[in-house]
Amino acid sequence: MCGIIGYIGPKKASNILIDGLLALEYRGYDSAGIATIENNEIKIMKDKGRVKNILNLEGYNELQGTYGIAHTRWATHGKPSKENSHPHFDNSNTFAVVHNGIIENYTELRNFLIEKDYTFYSQTDTEVIPNLIHYYYSNPNIDSNGENPDSSYDIVLDNNDSTKVNNTSRILVAITQATKNLKGSYAIEVISPLIPDTIIVSRKDSPLVIGTSNGENFIASDIPALLTYTRDFYLLDDNEFAVITKNSIEFYNEKLENHKKEIKNIEWDASAAEKNGFEDFMLKEIFEQPNSIRETIGSRLKLNEKCNFDDLEISSEYLKNINKIFIVACGTAMHAGLVGKNLFEKLCKIPTEVDIASEFRYRDPIIDEKTLCIYVSQSGETADTIAALKLAKSKGAKTLAISNVIGSSITREADYTIYTHAGPEIAVASTKAYTSQVTLFSILAIHFAELLGYDKGDITINSNGETITLEDFKKDILDLPKKVSIILEDTSLIKKFADEAYNEKDMFFLGRGIDQTVALEGSLKLKEITYIHSDAYASGELKHGPIALIENGIHVISILTDESLLKKSISNIQEVITRGAKTMIVTNQNLENNNFDFVINIPETSPLISPILSVIPLQLLAYYISKNKGLDVDKPRNLAKSVTVE
Ligand code: M6R
Repeated sequence: MCGIIGYIGPKKASNILIDGLLALEYRGYDSAGIATIENNEIKIMKDKGRVKNILNLEGYNELQGTYGIAHTRWATHGKPSKENSHPHFDNSNTFAVVHNGIIENYTELRNFLIEKDYTFYSQTDTEVIPNLIHYYYSNPNIDSNGENPDSSYDIVLDNNDSTKVNNTSRILVAITQATKNLKGSYAIEVISPLIPDTIIVSRKDSPLVIGTSNGENFIASDIPALLTYTRDFYLLDDNEFAVITKNSIEFYNEKLENHKKEIKNIEWDASAAEKNGFEDFMLKEIFEQPNSIRETIGSRLKLNEKCNFDDLEISSEYLKNINKIFIVACGTAMHAGLVGKNLFEKLCKIPTEVDIASEFRYRDPIIDEKTLCIYVSQSGETADTIAALKLAKSKGAKTLAISNVIGSSITREADYTIYTHAGPEIAVASTKAYTSQVTLFSILAIHFAELLGYDKGDITINSNGETITLEDFKKDILDLPKKVSIILEDTSLIKKFADEAYNEKDMFFLGRGIDQTVALEGSLKLKEITYIHSDAYASGELKHGPIALIENGIHVISILTDESLLKKSISNIQEVITRGAKTMIVTNQNLENNNFDFVINIPETSPLISPILSVIPLQLLAYYISKNKGLDVDKPRNLAKSVTVE
């Protein structure tokens, strides 16, 4: 995970670096650091804890450098501490490096370097990188195979200073040699007094973008971190290198052949990444859902018209030929996939499996050219999901990415991409991304049904065999923003339950059918931001074991939106009430005359998309409990927004 930032231009770099780090803090907040170069000397300020700690470090205000690199850390190798904070140096203090990713063979590389008399001062995997660069810089006759380097490097640098050109090309060669030795993932920035006014960057399997403007250039792990400065971006590819000065950016492949790259203009609104008067990003993002769902629907869905997927070149011939869909994702995105499965099976009659990306990769899934693999990732940077996508591609399957981040890594790997357009999601706990993902799944399923010719008949929506017309289903989707607004109008009962339950150690979430998928999502939300242990179960499964955990006063939350399962679900809730449970029910059914403690009523909609409404009270419940406990809602402990490690 971790976030990296870089700046080079006419302004004081430290302010811009700190600004960027604050925007990237969602990626990790165990430690932070910046490095600039002034008077031929690298100045490093770093410390354990949040980015704001750097502002209090002695000397911070005196930093004058106009270029530099910066890092906010999510600890993997080595505990959060000052020594383990980035930037890291080589032994001669010539190269400062920040790194996002994991170097899997760092022990091997460390031992190699120790044999060559290098000393290590941190427990990180990163520290091998500056030292390896130094090693290849000091031994230009050795390449990554221990042989003489290939003399055919075609280095063209846009600079008139010949000493600098020589040093830059020599350092660039050293960096490529060093990275050839790295196994794992990395996005790195390197600065050195040997190459004044220059930053060199590279990446493999970790994100890195370069923002460009008049006379200044920026580097970041993601686009939103730079949107206040520029809308023009280069998206660096795997094994690509860039030499960046304030007026130029030169791109090289791993053979160091110079090439041109296209600029991508990003339309996102920077203010969308600010709190806009809300106490926390999570609350803001929960309340944004009427709008984010509207944005997801966009111009894709209209009554009495076929869906608009001009940006997705999946043909009916291809679709008629596939025999299975896999939906692969992690965490909340995987929970959205569970709703997607039901939609594809009900509307398109295509058998659909949902898998956790980190499991899918290692279980030798049965995939061939007749399998469509759909990968869902808000960030588009989740390492497990990307690796799972690469696996399916290697087996000949077509891959479709559903992401929220334009140009993210997953969108560059997939055969097809569609975006949720939910706007930047900053809080670690995912809320609006989920409702947008489910919304997009519902429209995509209609589109596939249209391509397959299943759009003429009615859709079966529940286990009683009830049906609705496709037009009615479309209407239900178009009505979602309005219905979400209704839920958000009055949150007092949810707050009341949160006031009562926030000191609990355990909670349970129950549901049947589609409601069980929402139980899973509610339970995940609660765990990650309140640190309360919780479990989600299919209501009918409770009696096969977990009911042993129900005791006097325990809080049980049930989701009840599918009329066809109502009676059975109510019986299951009664079973826990009998054993002393306090209950909160989220429902669109009439549940008068029942002995439930709290009933949160939500508007009615088709069970196929009811998770978009029933999840809202659960998001709010987790939020209010977290606030009651005085926790950092947006940045829960041990977590990061983008999980770019496997
Ligand atoms: O960016 P992604 O959608 O790939 O992220 C997947 C999960 O890491 C993410 O949904 C995580 O579970 C959230 N923190 C849940 O709120």
